[in-house]
Amino acid sequence: MAEPFDALLCPLCGDGLRPRAAALGCPRGHSFDIARQGYAGLLAGGVSTASADTAAMVRARAAFLGAGHYAGLADALAALAAPLCPPGGTVLDAGAGTGYYLSAVLDAAPGASGLALDTSKHALRRAGRAHPRAGAARWDLRRPLPVRTGSIDVLLNVFAPRNGGEFRRVLRPGGALLVVTPTPRHLAELRPSMGLLSVDAAKEDRLRRALDGHFRLERTTPYDATVELTAEDAENAASMGPSAHHLDPDEVRRRAARLPSPLTVTTSFRLSVYRPA
Ligand SMILES: C[S@@+](CC[C@H](N)C(=O)[O-])C[C@H]1O[C@@H](n2cnc3c(N)ncnc32)[C@H](O)[C@@H]1O
Ligand SMILES: [Zn+2]
Repeated sequence: MAEPFDALLCPLCGDGLRPRAAALGCPRGHSFDIARQGYAGLLAGGVSTASADTAAMVRARAAFLGAGHYAGLADALAALAAPLCPPGGTVLDAGAGTGYYLSAVLDAAPGASGLALDTSKHALRRAGRAHPRAGAARWDLRRPLPVRTGSIDVLLNVFAPRNGGEFRRVLRPGGALLVVTPTPRHLAELRPSMGLLSVDAAKEDRLRRALDGHFRLERTTPYDATVELTAEDAENAASMGPSAHHLDPDEVRRRAARLPSPLTVTTSFRLSVYRPA
């Protein structure tokens, strides 16, 4: 079985990385600490990580996911991903957050190992411990990935930034990219009352453009479900997503407290399987 860090390369010289006491090191002597919480700090300081999830966003996301509201989505993604991952294969989750979906996929794919990449230290502290067969590393997806060419069997990209050229390079030729995006119906009942940004209807077009020339769409499966949310769940839903960058936390709490509780809310996603073009 592959070890979680086997697919990683030294971001400074491109050589392989091997675990050494609390660090990953390459033959040329570059060394990257593994944090107490298990993730490798490959990203040197001084880079802009403005899009990284904050501590408050990660806390809200972990609480919302922990309440099971997206468990059905995780099951659907795992059911799609597992048959695409050969025994002993490697799953890369690009923009993994807390590692929630990567864990679900690894549970469904015995013998596979997983690697979570994210810029947010707060997310990585959870992703680094999310699953016994997963490792995590801090990296910015806009840069060339410190991942071996053709080493990945299944690449997950769940509500996270994408890098078509690099995603294609790291996937083996028969590998698959699985992308989850929200539809404009997602959380519709919460949007006006909680002041959430609407899901841009052009999102799907942007996704296609970002992957154009690198991938072809094989199939898309819709996943829709209603969930019953308490005021606390609604507060977490607002605090974990892109709108959190624009909203005042006290105002979010006040708005959530004014909602009927429980409130029936639509969750609506597209799960798309792409193949290297
Ligand atoms: C909406 S969250 C989704 C997290 C996870 N996939 C999930 O659904 O639970 C987006 C994630 O992408 C990460 N992110 C944003 N910009 C990034 C970048 N340039 N490189 C790597 N990760 C990034 C954030 O830190 C955050 O964890
Ligand atoms: Zn090196």
